[in-house]
Amino acid sequence: MEPKPIHRLADEVVNRVAAGEVIHRPASALKEILENSLDAGATSIVVTVKDGGNKLLQVTDNGCGIREADLPILCERHTTSKLSKFEDLSAMSTFGFRGEALASISFVANLTVTTMTRGATHALKASYCDGALDGGGARPCAGNPGTTITVENLFYNVPTRCKALKSPGEEFAKVLDVVQRYAASRTDVAFTCRKHGEARPSLHCAVTPHRIDRMRAMYGSQVARTLTPMTLSNSAKADAPGDDDGAAEFTVDALVSTAGYHSRRTTFILLINHRLVECAPLRRACEAVYSAILPKAEKPFAYLSLELPPHTLDVNVHPTKREVAFLRQDEVVERVQRALERRLVEANGSRTFAVGAVAGTEVDEAFGEDGGSRRSARQSLLPGASRPGATRGRVERDDDDDGDDDDGTAGDGSVAPLASGRNKRSRPLTAREKAGGEHRMVRTDASLAAGSLDQFFHANANANAERARLDEARREARARRYAARGCAGVDDEEAELRGYDVGDGGDGGAGSPETSPELPDGETTELTSVRELWSEIAANAHVALQRVLRGLTLVGCADERRGLWLLQHGTKLFMVRVNRLARDLFYQRVVARFGRHPCRALAEPAPVAALVRMALDDEEVPEGAEKEKAEEAKEKIANAAAALVAEKAEMLREYFGVDVDRRARALVGLPVLCEGHEPNLARLPEFCLSLAHEVNWEEEKPCFDTCARSIASFYSGHDDEEEEEENVVPP
Ligand SMILES: Nc1ncnc2c1ncn2[C@@H]1O[C@H](COP(=O)(O)OP(=O)(O)O)[C@@H](O)[C@H]1O
Ligand SMILES: [Mg+2]
Repeated sequence: MEPKPIHRLADEVVNRVAAGEVIHRPASALKEILENSLDAGATSIVVTVKDGGNKLLQVTDNGCGIREADLPILCERHTTSKLSKFEDLSAMSTFGFRGEALASISFVANLTVTTMTRGATHALKASYCDGALDGGGARPCAGNPGTTITVENLFYNVPTRCKALKSPGEEFAKVLDVVQRYAASRTDVAFTCRKHGEARPSLHCAVTPHRIDRMRAMYGSQVARTLTPMTLSNSAKADAPGDDDGAAEFTVDALVSTAGYHSRRTTFILLINHRLVECAPLRRACEAVYSAILPKAEKPFAYLSLELPPHTLDVNVHPTKREVAFLRQDEVVERVQRALERRLVEANGSRTFAVGAVAGTEVDEAFGEDGGSRRSARQSLLPGASRPGATRGRVERDDDDDGDDDDGTAGDGSVAPLASGRNKRSRPLTAREKAGGEHRMVRTDASLAAGSLDQFFHANANANAERARLDEARREARARRYAARGCAGVDDEEAELRGYDVGDGGDGGAGSPETSPELPDGETTELTSVRELWSEIAANAHVALQRVLRGLTLVGCADERRGLWLLQHGTKLFMVRVNRLARDLFYQRVVARFGRHPCRALAEPAPVAALVRMALDDEEVPEGAEKEKAEEAKEKIANAAAALVAEKAEMLREYFGVDVDRRARALVGLPVLCEGHEPNLARLPEFCLSLAHEVNWEEEKPCFDTCARSIASFYSGHDDEEEEEENVVPP
């Protein structure tokens, strides 16, 4: 074959190819922009996203801004304010240094920058295309100190990339994940992330000195409660004095999940010298520790911040700076792994086994049990149960060394300890361990604590004893549980799905079999999101309350108008807001029987548009000219709602037993949640309206959750607005 002539690629081609390396999707563009904001010293960052970032990604910060003189070259490749000499690379304190991010974005999207430096009289707005400032130059405009970067129509000129983008919902999830990771690491900066046009942000967290508070703000108190701090400081000197090479020098500051954390996906947030990076060996090592103690399907959460001497770290190994290389990686990994193992044994060992997610002081007192927790619950069922907390036996707190959890929420009894069917350690042996692990036992200097053999033996003996006790307790509890249920062989995961107690019941029999919720009956679902919803229900279950509900005697109606009923259990009398109880019951039913709902046909089809119209007609409209406009708007809303419900017909039918005739855009059947019960059809209009307006149709789990809630309020006749702040204390 004839050789083809070699020619120089046009700059534009080179740049677009290079841009492809840095910017893969909205989330990777966001990563670069966020890092620039942090480099600029911002203390507040607001992210706005439209269509998962495919259409619009906007980041506003209150950082130092960009000088007017720099705007013409801002988006050229290799222009930066952060690096001057190659040597600087060895001690970079900023995220950026390559001067490639903004350039790359400008080659694959429409980029606009609005910026104002402190003390300037006005802001400047500049648009960029292919690395160059638009002909008109920067224009003055109103603004606040800081910078807003607006990225529109990502990959408008790279069709293959554009096609490879996932649905807006999936891209948004990735964007949110990036924001969460930076927010987890930078608690000194406030973060907000919002979908364009939505008033409520998807994430908002204020500046806080405590990382645990940040985690709570982002992931909820349920997750925060299960996180425990871990610190490790390995100094080169103490480890091997006299050894020229010394040992790896590093510190670790971490928050890691204990056994009460429930998730089907690993969350591993790793920072090395404050950079968010990935390190597959370290991640695997941590996962191995967890896989030895968690049930199969449970995955951990770990936030790990590793600090190494800057000269042992190379940050320039990848254009996205996603990976870093560091010296003595094996050793660091192994030590972190061991520290994690120790921490988990300690954390779980210091808890007393007790289960029962929610209970309240008043309820607990009513049950004659030890209340005292200040935690609030998602599902409070009894009128007196305004502040559910934990029903528990004796519970010791974690030995939190940073005191982050001082709100009394940590270490409570809701944590199911190491409920695992797999007690064997299954993590792969490290090379050194395979070789016998003797290296750990070489006495280097008997006068130093770190070199002392005795120290080492003690620590290990304790850990082993701890582990053995855990195993024993687990075995016993499981045996008790299965014996009582007569269901030997049900594994933990299945047990959990069925609502049985997976945490091992301990003192006082909290969480013992007879108190477990019976739902769901029959098979389980493959959908992770539904399993998660069910786990959340199970985790929130109030054990003592379940006992009451099971053994109750109905006394009668106390106040029909307010739906208050009296129940008796033992010697106690309870006043219950029955709609609310029903709502939670129906919600649990919808989730429990997900995808298996029997459906009963309506006597005649109910057109959705007309129903929504009826719901809207209940709202007041202004008189006069405005009225016409309002009527028009109602008509539009009703039609759009009908179209949306029709579009979701298949899912509504299959998952929820809500039968919609797609063509006629009419409801034709409803699920049977409880044999013998029928919902009040007068509430159909509100139900249709809520299907269209309250269900989050974009993301799987929120969609199932909100849909189940919609159905539950319809069936129970319970509106949240009805909820007055009134506490009826049981007599
Ligand atoms: N949000 C921002 N606030 C202030 N300056 C910024 C901001 N974003 C970018 N810059 C400036 O633009 C330059 C180029 O950014 P970038 O292309 O990301 O390269 P790098 O971050 O590697 O320097 C940065 O060096 C910085 O001076
Ligand atoms: Mg940058």
